Amino acid sequence: MPPFSHPISFIEEAAPFVQLCWEMGWNEANGGNVSWRLPEEEIHGILNRRFPNTVLGDPVLLPEPHPSLDGEYFLVTGAGQYFRHAITHPAEVFGIVQIVNDGTAYQRHWGLINGGRPTSEFATHLVGHAIRKRVSNGRERIILHCHVPEFIALSFLMPLDSRELTMALWQKMPECIVVFPDGVRVVPPLLPGTVKIAQASAIELEKSRIISWSHHGIFASEEDPDKVFALVETIEKAAAIHRRILSAGGPQRGIDTALLTELTEHFASYMVADADLLKDQ
Ligand code: 13P
Ligand code: ZN
Repeated sequence: MPPFSHPISFIEEAAPFVQLCWEMGWNEANGGNVSWRLPEEEIHGILNRRFPNTVLGDPVLLPEPHPSLDGEYFLVTGAGQYFRHAITHPAEVFGIVQIVNDGTAYQRHWGLINGGRPTSEFATHLVGHAIRKRVSNGRERIILHCHVPEFIALSFLMPLDSRELTMALWQKMPECIVVFPDGVRVVPPLLPGTVKIAQASAIELEKSRIISWSHHGIFASEEDPDKVFALVETIEKAAAIHRRILSAGGPQRGIDTALLTELTEHFASYMVADADLLKDQ
């Protein structure tokens, strides 16, 4: 990866991360988006120091208010922006916005130049942040949406059912149940970028960091770019193994549920949630 430097440390970290997602084949053209809830004091200090003369954008009304996010700063990809351009055109691909007016609007602080605006999925990202900030006691900060090919393929090959999808993935690699014990929750096929998909996603994000937008892609929440990348990478790998098995005539067996239970006991200290979908059997 070529070295990349930027006066905003978070952009310096986000641009190579987004470039890598493109290299993985997860984010073609403008496919996918990222939002990152930034530490308030740190980003406020950086913007004041590095960009003291910035003219703030006018507040833009959000489709749904999020009082619990009032004052938060988000690094977000722009609508229609290509992940592939993150390093060459960071001020177009990314923006930094703040949630203002009691969580009813956002205001642009940096980036999104040439008339840009946050991703068309911003409503779902904010719902996701509000929920996952609460559920994780503030640990989770970044949401990544990707059009991961193997994972999407499964939504055409399998029933649209959270437990069936999660079990299929857990049973492919021992790491899976430890890495995503909360499982993958399935959201039915819905129009991208709408309040409807945001509301359907909200229900599932109460239960897991990871949701499947059926026939569309993955939407995952984690602490930082490295961790969300690792999460999506692991799920996409398991999906690829499962899809290959389906292509070869279907599984003869999967990792036994007794072994899955043993894994949750042995690696309990690594797990961020209980494996409820295993107990539901
Ligand atoms: P944006 O370009 O608005 O981020 O949309 C891409 C996408 O993947 C929609 O689901
Ligand atoms: Zn998408």
